Amino acid sequence: MSAIDRIALVAEAALAPSVHNVQPARWRLVGDDGISLFEGLRSRLATGDPRGNDAAISLGAAAEGMRLAAGRRGLALVPTATPADEPDLRGVAGWRLVDDGEPDPLVGVVEARQSWRAAFAKPTAADRRAAEALVADDAAVVTDPAILKQLAGRYDAASYRFMRDDAFRAELRGWMRLDRRHPRWAVDGLNADAMAMSGIEARGAALVLGPAFRLLARIGLARPLLAEGAKVARGAGLVVFHRPRNEAPFDSGARFYRLWLRIEAAGFGAAVLAALADDPGAAAEIARAAGIGADRRVVSAFRIGRRPPGEQPPRARRPIEEVLV
Ligand SMILES: Cc1cc2nc3c(=O)[nH]c(=O)nc-3n(C[C@H](O)[C@H](O)[C@H](O)COP(=O)(O)O)c2cc1C
Repeated sequence: MSAIDRIALVAEAALAPSVHNVQPARWRLVGDDGISLFEGLRSRLATGDPRGNDAAISLGAAAEGMRLAAGRRGLALVPTATPADEPDLRGVAGWRLVDDGEPDPLVGVVEARQSWRAAFAKPTAADRRAAEALVADDAAVVTDPAILKQLAGRYDAASYRFMRDDAFRAELRGWMRLDRRHPRWAVDGLNADAMAMSGIEARGAALVLGPAFRLLARIGLARPLLAEGAKVARGAGLVVFHRPRNEAPFDSGARFYRLWLRIEAAGFGAAVLAALADDPGAAAEIARAAGIGADRRVVSAFRIGRRPPGEQPPRARRPIEEVLV
């Protein structure tokens, strides 16, 4: 297999979701048919993700992206030795590409899947039924408007708890590209278009998350300015992703990506609400509301809904030279 073919696979795997769009996956072509996956440790979120849980979920999603890309071309991945760690790189997994793969039905929506952070169209009864049909072994779905409203409030409270931490806000701002002239606007992190912010909203966010936060917090304005719960309450539903409590986050990451692709295949847009899973109190409440057992871990949650007509913003992704090591 030529190097060029594997580069096409890497480019497709890069469409996978990653926390704050840091894109931690680094790839190396090995010999004639091998490929190794590393974590680029410089993109680790020291404050938001000190134990590397979200990085591992992101890497699991990238690995699943590689598996889907290989399957599209009739190739399968056979595990080989995990590559050794190197400076700034943690060895994650190694594979050989062999000829007996087949296309996964979800591969058809890989290109279309993208975070949708604007509001959704007002849901119809049929939309709510379609949302409920997404229920699976590892996906619970909440569509009752009263429960959605309650969880929306929980979401705002949980995300504000994270936002109050100066170090968390500083790290998040470091990955935000609020000005189109930012050199990495189209490369990584979260740009204003991806966050569905107008120019004025982006300038406001720079202030609220930056120098004005303490003052706004003191006068009780920071929280309402950051609140997003209304978008949760007005969606078609909330999809709660849960996995066995002791599962490695890398393995959960592959399932996370597959669930998001199922949501896309059902014609829904989705935005991740990580704070609902990361805040222990919110995770417990959501598990109760969605009937999820104590042996399961709430890994993540998505608000889903129908996207109103209009263009999706272009994706920000690292160029291939940054991800090949
Ligand atoms: C572990 C993890 C946590 C995430 N948390 C959030 C979140 O809290 N809010 C959000 O809007 N997106 C979240 N995302 C989605 C990423 O920001 C998104 O995948 C990334 O920006 C790439 O953009 P795309 O999904 O449009 O391809 C998360 C993704 C992962 C893998």
